[in-house]
Amino acid sequence: MIELHDVHKRLGTRQILAGMTLRVPKGMNFVLMGPSGSGKSVTLKHVIGILKPDQGSVQVDGQEVPTMSRTQLMTLRKRMGYLFQNGALINWLSVADNVGLPLREHARLPKSELDDRVQQVLRLVKLDHAAAQFPPSISGGMKLRAGLARALVTNPEYVLYDEPNAGLDPIISHQIHELIAQVRDDLGVTGLIVTHSRACATHCGDRIGILEEGRLAIEGTVDEMVRSDHPLARAFLGGGSD
Ligand SMILES: Nc1ncnc2c1ncn2[C@@H]1O[C@H](COP(=O)(O)OP(=O)(O)O)[C@@H](O)[C@H]1O
Ligand SMILES: [Mg+2]
Repeated sequence: MIELHDVHKRLGTRQILAGMTLRVPKGMNFVLMGPSGSGKSVTLKHVIGILKPDQGSVQVDGQEVPTMSRTQLMTLRKRMGYLFQNGALINWLSVADNVGLPLREHARLPKSELDDRVQQVLRLVKLDHAAAQFPPSISGGMKLRAGLARALVTNPEYVLYDEPNAGLDPIISHQIHELIAQVRDDLGVTGLIVTHSRACATHCGDRIGILEEGRLAIEGTVDEMVRSDHPLARAFLGGGSD
């Protein structure tokens, strides 16, 4: 379980998080929505310990993240995949080498085992045919799938998805949503998904929370949130939104 309790965080002169409380139970996809610049990515960075709260607690499975030692943080990050916007691939490495990176950093696997594991996750995201290609020559949707494969290669219990469908057309987005739901259902991965997309939230999410002024203004199951009259729920999940 990922648990933030009453997290406050100031960056520069701005109070970004102010009483942020959020709970992601195991096996669930929690969708975090909110205006641009409201602190969604900042929230994810607290979960993997890149940022530390000024006040409040951030826990993964009951362990306090901000006070973890380097070694403990390394162990945590092995258990937690991170899908960056646009996949964040390294252009001069092949798709397969990009996907294998976390294994090279975290685990000393024999090359054959490493290659097998990379092939396995590439098959899962249907990119096995593109293993030898380089990021500049593949489409946005393929980059994202490669980013997802890289997030999954260490067999994580948690994956943090930062705007997994930004800039993708609705058809490719739909494939990504299916994959994210499949990762939860077939691999039992717990997800924290940042998105602006109603389709993403309703297709992949179990619960949705909307961030405003540094904390969740409203939170509930997908059904509750879609039916809610709250202006933020209407704005992000109403009929007019995508
Ligand atoms: N390392 C940083 N230093 C200073 N300001 C930051 C830093 N990271 C993010 N911010 C600011 O915090 C606010 C929230 O950022 P972010 O979480 O990235 O927003 P979003 O909700 O769009 O993901 C933004 O105003 C951003 O400029
Ligand atoms: Mg962001």
